[in-house]
Amino acid sequence: MKRRLYLETFGCQMNVLDSELVLNQLRAMGYEQTDTRDTADVVLFNTCSVREHAEQKVWSRLGELREARQTNPTMVIGVIGCMAERDSADLFRKFPHIDILCGPGELDRLPGMVHNAVLNTGTARARQSALMGKNTRRSATLHAAEDTLESLDLSRSFSPADGTKQAYVRITRGCNKFCSYCVVPYTRGPEVHRPPQNIIDEVKKLTDGGHLEVTLLGQTVNHYHYKHPDGRTTSFADLLYQIHEATPHLPRLRFVTSFPRDFSREALQAMRDCSRICHYLHIPAQSGSDRILRMMNRGYSADQYLELIDTARQLMPDIAIASDFIVGFPTETDDEFQQTVALTAHCRFKNSFIFKYSPRPGTHAQERYPDDVPEEVKRRRNNELLALQGNICADNNAAMVGQSVEILVEGEGSLASPPTVDAGHVELAWEKKKQKHPADHKQLIGRTRGDQIVAFHADPSQIGKLLTVKITAARQMTLFAEC
Ligand code: 5AD
Ligand code: SF4
Repeated sequence: MKRRLYLETFGCQMNVLDSELVLNQLRAMGYEQTDTRDTADVVLFNTCSVREHAEQKVWSRLGELREARQTNPTMVIGVIGCMAERDSADLFRKFPHIDILCGPGELDRLPGMVHNAVLNTGTARARQSALMGKNTRRSATLHAAEDTLESLDLSRSFSPADGTKQAYVRITRGCNKFCSYCVVPYTRGPEVHRPPQNIIDEVKKLTDGGHLEVTLLGQTVNHYHYKHPDGRTTSFADLLYQIHEATPHLPRLRFVTSFPRDFSREALQAMRDCSRICHYLHIPAQSGSDRILRMMNRGYSADQYLELIDTARQLMPDIAIASDFIVGFPTETDDEFQQTVALTAHCRFKNSFIFKYSPRPGTHAQERYPDDVPEEVKRRRNNELLALQGNICADNNAAMVGQSVEILVEGEGSLASPPTVDAGHVELAWEKKKQKHPADHKQLIGRTRGDQIVAFHADPSQIGKLLTVKITAARQMTLFAEC
């Protein structure tokens, strides 16, 4: 009988990819995925530590599992990802029913650990952990052949029958930036760049299997540079050109997340020159204040960030740019926050992910700076920036009404409300159209090359296809279209 595996993923795209790779390996060992957690044979949480809120969600899941484990005593429970690495022994102490802890830098060892735990549940139940701890065995100087974690990415298998059209491909693991607020360099370890040929082979394999969009992943993706054993270096720009040339049938290539200081003009030129690279950047500014940026250890000033955005827009006038911000960083004054507001107003981002500062144990900021901006002030700043970005989104989207855009149809949607940003007549037209939809048409959701969400009605057989649609109306977060 197949063993049932429940896997829930929290956090960033890197975790989504890690979960996919882990799932592939466990499937090959005879496990099948289930959506029913409490009766599963194995429950895995792939976790995120970037803010306390993300950790709280996992704590509450683990609390809920106490009872499930009593009624299902052979259940194996594993915490994988950044929380396992960060909280390690503390997690075992707080939740004695955890069997496995596995950090993101050790995931190649997870399938063996799971299987071992499953075989031993009836007898001696032993806790297992695979963590980097302070000894970063995946040292940045490792050659790929010795880097066993590379085998996890290389093990990727997929079936064209799955029908999936979008895929992530890792190009860099870990991070060396040590932004003062961030746990990632501690949980994911030092930067390791994958050999370009392995990356190209993986993108080719996915393209040959029918994928239409590949997103290259790295914590600081544009910092990619691979030193070959013969001394040559492949830069990020080189890699983009090489992937683009090697996969002429891949319609969409994109990458996240970029680090402002690392953008070379060559990389932006590669984006401009390679017609199938999407004109989309996720390039977090974090703050508009030079003093706060210095305290964050970001290595650039607000002016340097603005120059970069200007250069990108000069080279690609249609580029969509998204950013991240942290509000209420220690000692941030109202004036400094207003500099973030001004930067946002100037850059007119496609969207911004806005976070209230959350002190993370072990980081420089948590150890050295008081978390002295009151929660109420953080909330107010968060709301003010969200409201500004919301208005910018609404304006940007409204300006797209009437345009024809290419979308990749991702699935069915449930965006029930009609558009309200435009004048009443648009709403009326929408209502009329709604009544005219044939019975077999459903609301579908697609994404533009600039990562905007588009809702429209069509036959679900369109899912997984690239279509050109005309934008008929807009809301703050969504565009509405017809085929
Ligand atoms: N508090 C709040 N936000 C954080 N981020 C990273 N660390 C923290 C923290 N300690 C945000 C940054 C980053 C995004 C992934 O999460 O904006 O770009
Ligand atoms: Fe964290 Fe900074 Fe690295 Fe991004 S670049 S993962 S914010 S340390």
